[in-house]
Amino acid sequence: MAGLTDEIEPLKQAALADLKAAPDLAALEQIKGAWIGAHGKFTALMKQLGTLPKEEKPAAGKAVNAAKIELEAALAERRAQLELEAALPTEPTDFTLPGRRRTLGRLHPLTQVTEDIVRSFRKIGFAVADGPEVEDEYHCFDALNTPADHPARDTQDTFYVQGGTDSKLLLRTHTSSVQIRVMEKQPPPVRIIVPGRVYRRDNADATHNPTFQQVEGLYVDKGVTAADLKGTVEFVFKELMGDDVKIRFRPHYFSYTEPSFEIDFTSAMVKKMGKDWLEIAGCGMVHPQVFENVGYDPEVWTGWAFGFGIERIAMIRYGINDIRLFYENDVRFLRQF
Ligand code: DAH
Repeated sequence: MAGLTDEIEPLKQAALADLKAAPDLAALEQIKGAWIGAHGKFTALMKQLGTLPKEEKPAAGKAVNAAKIELEAALAERRAQLELEAALPTEPTDFTLPGRRRTLGRLHPLTQVTEDIVRSFRKIGFAVADGPEVEDEYHCFDALNTPADHPARDTQDTFYVQGGTDSKLLLRTHTSSVQIRVMEKQPPPVRIIVPGRVYRRDNADATHNPTFQQVEGLYVDKGVTAADLKGTVEFVFKELMGDDVKIRFRPHYFSYTEPSFEIDFTSAMVKKMGKDWLEIAGCGMVHPQVFENVGYDPEVWTGWAFGFGIERIAMIRYGINDIRLFYENDVRFLRQF
């Protein structure tokens, strides 16, 4: 009966080859049954070992148990592989398809407004750019032509951060710093918007908070005019606030634009709030000194820039009269959007 022990190894090899080649989970279960199931070939061999003479039994038993353990390990390994394969998508993913509706939760109103603003600007060829919130004085002020004694740079208005070697560090007070970062990195033309968080040393009240969000815009090309600026702003505000929106420009001063304007807007909604015009944004034609600072030739390139607050837009849009509601995360408030 010595032949029986010799059968273990080839039988095991055949079973291993079968398990490894199983094309899917269903086939694997069948193969398992055919070898180590109640009526499997390997099980049958194990049963026959009982008929061996007493002195041969221990060695044969040991060999068959080791083989069984190996087969079970191979089975588990192949099963894990096939389960992983079964979980993978069978078709390539189409990233252009519209997303599924969220089944849980919803977007914060400020996120919704930001997404709407970005969507409108994308329609007319603006790309989204980003920059650091911990900024240096150079990018936040100097490169934007803001004089050293300007009140905005005061420690009463700006959060300064320890550190920085060449230029003091601070929490950016506006997203205008990203204009500089982008122009330093790429040659003109430029057409970007920058949604992002900014910080000012304001005490929180109904209309102020030490951190809020802005959207910056920058357009640089040859022959860009203030008429393009007005048309662009009008297009976007109409998209955001409705077709009856009217805007007007009032002369103003910013160190990084010349001429500079403040943008007011009005609509039926504004009238309902008991106002004629609401001040909504700052803007202007990029100052030649700013172009010099980033190495653009101001004799060749012209551009405009603007900046406005996202909270302010959301407050007008949804009729919210206290900015702090956005940050308190009271679900009774958030559920309304
Ligand atoms: N940075 C200004 C602020 O925070 C807004 C602003 C005004 C941005 C004029 C601009 C601009 O780009 O040209 O109030």
